[in-house]
Amino acid sequence: MPVDLKGKRFIVTGGATGIGRATAIRTAVYGARVAVFDVNDAAANETITDITESGGNARYWHVDVTDGAAVQSAVDAAVQWMDGVDVLVHLAGVLQGASVELDDFPEETWDMVVDINLRGSFLVTKNVVRHMKAKQNGTIILASSGAGVLGGSSSFAYGSSKGGVHGLTLVMQSALEKYGIRVNDILPGSVQTPLKVAQVQKTYELTGDKETYDRTMKSLVSPDAISKVIAFMASDEASVLRGSVRTA
Ligand SMILES: NC(=O)c1ccc[n+]([C@@H]2O[C@H](COP(=O)([O-])OP(=O)(O)OC[C@H]3O[C@@H](n4cnc5c(N)ncnc54)[C@H](O)[C@@H]3O)[C@@H](O)[C@H]2O)c1
Repeated sequence: MPVDLKGKRFIVTGGATGIGRATAIRTAVYGARVAVFDVNDAAANETITDITESGGNARYWHVDVTDGAAVQSAVDAAVQWMDGVDVLVHLAGVLQGASVELDDFPEETWDMVVDINLRGSFLVTKNVVRHMKAKQNGTIILASSGAGVLGGSSSFAYGSSKGGVHGLTLVMQSALEKYGIRVNDILPGSVQTPLKVAQVQKTYELTGDKETYDRTMKSLVSPDAISKVIAFMASDEASVLRGSVRTA
């Protein structure tokens, strides 16, 4: 029995591809109205077309999550379109610098990854929380990663940014509960998305280790499987859920 999201109003960032696309589609199928934020207009518009053609309700905003003014105006427009916001699923993110040694790691790559993954999480949540506080109700799900919490990331910047997202989740959890806002993060394992496949390929180019490449590619799980977990985390059935959710 799928969870019931009828009447829920979602903002899903990173909804053009990967886990975000699967989440936007699934939550719309379960009855939510979905505002998709991304920078990949062509792919995001495909997400919207797929949702609307199957009878769902979704709309796209081009938003760079590192641009505070753009985030604020898109959040306000989406809230106006949906007449409120119940759930934020913030999945927009990048992985750059895979398998680059620390002493060679470019500062620009560090800045770009931390800016999008960590500062972007701050800017998106900051602007959504204003609306949730006004209603004393809301659910926020951020995309952290085992890379930032358990160790073993292929990229110094990526692992650090995701550790930061996990820290932001913990701070928000305790600070926002009094406003009726529930905050959790998800730590997806290895999921077959453009972000992960590019990282696996890059690592193979640098190491030439075909056996590890083949094994890793075979072990990736589908974004659709992760979207089922996120839909549950966002639902009223998960109202007592606190903390981090790990998936394969
Ligand atoms: N795939 C995995 O194995 C995995 C594992 C752990 C965590 N994650 C996290 O899950 C989230 C989703 O990743 P995915 O694997 O689906 O990757 P993906 O590349 O398929 O999706 C990321 C989306 O974010 C968008 N995006 C990138 N920069 C942006 C910006 N500045 N503003 C707005 N949108 C932007 C991209 O256009 C893309 O649609 C990411 O935060 C990622 O770090 C993924």
